[in-house]
Amino acid sequence: MFDLLPNFWTPVLPVAEVENTPVAVELAGERLVLFRNLTGEIGALLDRCPHRGVALSLGRVNENGCLECPYHGWQFDQNGACRHVPLNNPADVKLSVLSAVRLPTRIIAGLVWVFTGQGEVPDLEVPESLMRSPEFYFIHHEVWNAHWTRVIENAMDYVHVPFVHRNSFGGEVGQAIASGSFAEFQITQTKHSIQVFNRYHNIESSFALEWHQPNLVVLKFDEMGMPVRSHFFGIPVNKHQTRILIAIQLLEPHAVAMLDEFISPIIEDKVVIESHKGEIPATTGECNVPTDRATLLFRRWYHQAIARQAVTI
Ligand code: FES
Ligand SMILES: [Fe+2]
Repeated sequence: MFDLLPNFWTPVLPVAEVENTPVAVELAGERLVLFRNLTGEIGALLDRCPHRGVALSLGRVNENGCLECPYHGWQFDQNGACRHVPLNNPADVKLSVLSAVRLPTRIIAGLVWVFTGQGEVPDLEVPESLMRSPEFYFIHHEVWNAHWTRVIENAMDYVHVPFVHRNSFGGEVGQAIASGSFAEFQITQTKHSIQVFNRYHNIESSFALEWHQPNLVVLKFDEMGMPVRSHFFGIPVNKHQTRILIAIQLLEPHAVAMLDEFISPIIEDKVVIESHKGEIPATTGECNVPTDRATLLFRRWYHQAIARQAVTI
């Protein structure tokens, strides 16, 4: 299960989109249902009733704050525990063996995070720029028809900027390329991240980005004089689709007015990325040049850490 992204914490949806009505969402090829109980706690369950396998998301949150299956009305709390089985004498039913499959959840930066595994749950570690309260984030999400690894690779790839973003923030570099500009970049790695700093040899333009395992790229637009920092997640929906989730941290509250003009350039990549076929290949699978070094590090990590793993639930 969750073979596309097994045993990782990942955001799945903005917390503001999870109300009392159950929400169905596909994550890494598995269908989940998210809901809130009466005290506002969010539960994430596999969207599959343990009784006859129907979608729990077709049910409702009842007056007890339980998710009630639409078929025979079994009731599950936010931890997946079965609380009631209608029309059966309680003395004849052992509720403890009738649980739905629950996934661990956390709320950070206005996002619902889910751990895509069972068993031991690691701490959820995020960059400091995601540690502020929800009102400091502007969140946008949409689904692209591409494998999630292509989306993350794109976010780490700085040499496409003057071409894909020619008419927005890449214009300045595009002019420099005409005069023979080349990229000067530094890459550093930690166990769970890759940092890239890039500048050009003949113009005053630089930027930095960081990839954090498994599916977050922090774009440090503040290097370009803009008072925002963008967190770009590539969340696998299934093999063919990826949820692009962007959480922009507002360093200056009055920067809110900039956001519309900020989101549209970030998603200019959609058409190009949807033209890829399937996941990223291994490091030798396509032609490469020195400016591909950062994305090749991601490819190596992906093929070693994920492509050969699976979780059984
Ligand atoms: S299928 Fe859910 S209660 Fe029967
Ligand atoms: Fe881009």
